[in-house]
Amino acid sequence: MKKSVLVTGGAGFIGSHTAVELIEAGYDVVIADNLSNSEAAAVEGVRKITGTNVPLEVADCCDREAMDALFRKYAFDSVIHFAASKAVGESVEKPLLYYRNNILSLVNILELMLKHGVKNIVFSSSCTVYGEPDKLPVTERTPRKKANSPYGNTKQIAEDILKDTTIAHPDALRVIALRYFNPIGAHPSALIGELPKGVPGNLVPYITQTAASLRECLSIFGGDYDTPDGSAIRDYIDVTDLAKAHVAAMSRMREGKSRSVYEIFNIGTGKGLSVLELVDKFERATGVKVPHKIVGRRAGDIEKIWADTSYANRELGWKAEKTTEETLASAWAWEKRLRSIE
Ligand code: NAD
Ligand code: WQD
Repeated sequence: MKKSVLVTGGAGFIGSHTAVELIEAGYDVVIADNLSNSEAAAVEGVRKITGTNVPLEVADCCDREAMDALFRKYAFDSVIHFAASKAVGESVEKPLLYYRNNILSLVNILELMLKHGVKNIVFSSSCTVYGEPDKLPVTERTPRKKANSPYGNTKQIAEDILKDTTIAHPDALRVIALRYFNPIGAHPSALIGELPKGVPGNLVPYITQTAASLRECLSIFGGDYDTPDGSAIRDYIDVTDLAKAHVAAMSRMREGKSRSVYEIFNIGTGKGLSVLELVDKFERATGVKVPHKIVGRRAGDIEKIWADTSYANRELGWKAEKTTEETLASAWAWEKRLRSIE
């Protein structure tokens, strides 16, 4: 059976790692990316790691004609849709950019899947849909809270669009939405990793850039949360482990093992770590000190969240495997390579 997968946003952080895992699992992959938040070099990295010549189609998912041409050029049987804008703060300032890019791209992809008879789609959702949960850990049944950013709202709307479309076309479409917790780390080869533009908004790139002396000091946002050490708690998932969850989701759909046409899985480690614990683990894993100070809370941040991953463990046969130390060491190896540090 043909196994050709369209990976939108495949030059990005999670998409590039997933392309590697898919190729290593025997899939034919086509990457489509408009390179708005990535570089073609990431695809070079995927090619080097896998020893293949995976195609990169520079195309915008919002451009329906261009995407239609891709669906005509290749015989896809599945899609993994990563392409989206993802900066929470920017989405508050430019909501229309986020609604246009994240929603229009998904609608285009779904219309083209129906038009070309492509059945399976894995969608990148986010733990952001849970907001500040009342009960921990969160399961897939935990009610979603009102989104606290336009970005978060695009993920909720996208989930609803996917659900409604499978209800209308139950024979034509199968969907798995993966709700990622906090993806971190880089490929063990250090050939691909995260490429934040400007000052990093996310914690781990800020830590590695501080360790590399590009930043003077890490600000820890909030030391007065109701947590054991006062800093906020998240579930940090290794990006290669996360990539493997996509392979598991893909084979579940292709082998007809889905329990319903629209399924949701939490993808995390199941363990919460505080910001201070993460900094400590980084220092232990790498032997490099990260100067840091506690400052005020960041607007919009939640106090604590971590996943119940038992549904994904059981149904997808997938489990996060890397230790946080291994993952942080991989993030550091990637940063060192980017900055040519020995
Ligand atoms: P990323 O920015 O590294 O990757 C997204 C890729 O999509 C980029 O290469 C970008 O150039 C491309 N892209 C954006 N809009 C496009 C368009 N209209 N057409 C074609 N390509 C387009 O981000 P990432 O961290 O790899 O995230 C991938 C997906 O996972 C996103 O949907 C994101 O919302 C979701 N997600 C990310 C996180 C996270 O913390 N990184 C957490 C939960 C969910
Ligand atoms: C983690 C923790 C910060 C930077 C974001 C999105 C979410 C999802 C994942 C896409 C928080 C603290 C951070 C710093 C710090 N993305 N921090 N100093 O906010 O949990 O989630 O990415 O769907 O939607 O909101 O991730 O890495 O920004 O922060 O103290 O310089 O680190 O306050 O507690 P976050 P993050």
